[in-house]
Amino acid sequence: MRETSVDWEALHEAATEVSRRAYAPYSKFPVGAAALADDGRLLVGCNVENAAYGVVLCAECGLVSQLYATGGGRLTHFVCVNGEGAIIMPCGRCRQLLFEHGGRDLLVWTVSGVKPMSEVLPDAFGPDDLAHMAAAADAAAEGTD
Ligand code: THU
Repeated sequence: MRETSVDWEALHEAATEVSRRAYAPYSKFPVGAAALADDGRLLVGCNVENAAYGVVLCAECGLVSQLYATGGGRLTHFVCVNGEGAIIMPCGRCRQLLFEHGGRDLLVWTVSGVKPMSEVLPDAFGPDDLAHMAAAADAAAEGTD
C-alpha cells in the first residue's frame, strides 16, 4: 500500500477511539493503537493493566494479537495515542514487537513525524539475526559430517 493512499487521520481517529476502551485503573494512562495490515485491514488495540503491575498488556500487544486472530500478514502503518489523542511513542518493548511484524519499512507516526521503523528502532535485532546463526550452525554441522 503506497504511503500517499493512506488515510493517516482515519488511523489516528481509530486509535483515539479505542483508547477509550483501555483498562488503565492503575496508571490512569489510557493508550490506543491502530495499524494497517498489508491487505488494508484496520487493526486496533488498547492497554489492559493488572493488579500485578508487571502483567500489563500494552495497546500494541492487543493489536498484534488482532493481526493474527484476523488472518495474519504484515503491519504497514502504525500510530499510538494517549487518552487525549496525542501521538505517543511506542515503548521500547513494543518497538521490538512492531519490528517483528512490520520490519524496517513499517511506517510509524511518531512525535516527530512519520518515520520508518528502521529509524524508530535502529540496528534492530530481529528474525534475520536468528536465521543467520541457524544457517551458520547448519554449515558447521555439514562440515563435521
Ligand atoms: N503503554 C502502552 O500501552 N503502550 C506503549 O507503547 C507505552 C505504554 C501503556 C502501558 C501502561 O498501561 C500505561 O501505558 C502506562 O505505562
